[in-house]
Amino acid sequence: MPIRPMTEANLTHVLALQSALAFQNWNEKQFLSELRANYALCLVNEENGVFAGYAIFHLMEADSELLTIAVAPEFQRKGIASALLRHGLGKLNRDKGDHCFLEVREGNSKARALYEKHGFQAYGKRERYYDDGETAILYKW
Ligand SMILES: CC(C)(COP(=O)(O)OP(=O)(O)OC[C@H]1O[C@@H](n2cnc3c(N)ncnc32)[C@H](O)[C@@H]1OP(=O)(O)O)[C@@H](O)C(=O)NCCC(=O)NCCS
Repeated sequence: MPIRPMTEANLTHVLALQSALAFQNWNEKQFLSELRANYALCLVNEENGVFAGYAIFHLMEADSELLTIAVAPEFQRKGIASALLRHGLGKLNRDKGDHCFLEVREGNSKARALYEKHGFQAYGKRERYYDDGETAILYKW
């Protein structure tokens, strides 16, 4: 799975995928500030040169976080999100007490299955966390 650092040149594809999947609403400025943050790990995956997905982590040892992960519909269920997750989590050391946190919509069963497969455990929830009133489930790796 060809994974490499996200660059500004990827942002057109990243924004198009985000809006096609309608799961998050970051603007270009927010992605740019992630690209410039030295604690952020911004990754893309390309299959035979075709943009297929992205993920952004904040790597801060015990307070690390997965902020976003997405795979284009035509590339889903081929292990791409798993490869992106493994890449980011591979920078952490669970034995030394590193953790990775995330929050996800309660009804996002695909993402929840992905996270649970990779060792995340639900530890709490925030009721009506999202604008539309959906609850967020909090996960920790
Ligand atoms: C969630 C998402 C990133 C998964 O990407 P993906 O590349 O298809 O995931 P993978 O192929 O690596 O799948 C890994 C595991 O995730 C779970 N999973 C993925 N797609 C699933 C589906 N359609 N139904 C049930 N479980 C699913 C399964 O446990 C799967 O393991 P398996 O194939 O061995 O059963 C993708 O569906 C997506 O982009 N969704 C929209 C954006 C989103 O919701 N992002 C997360 C919130 S920030």
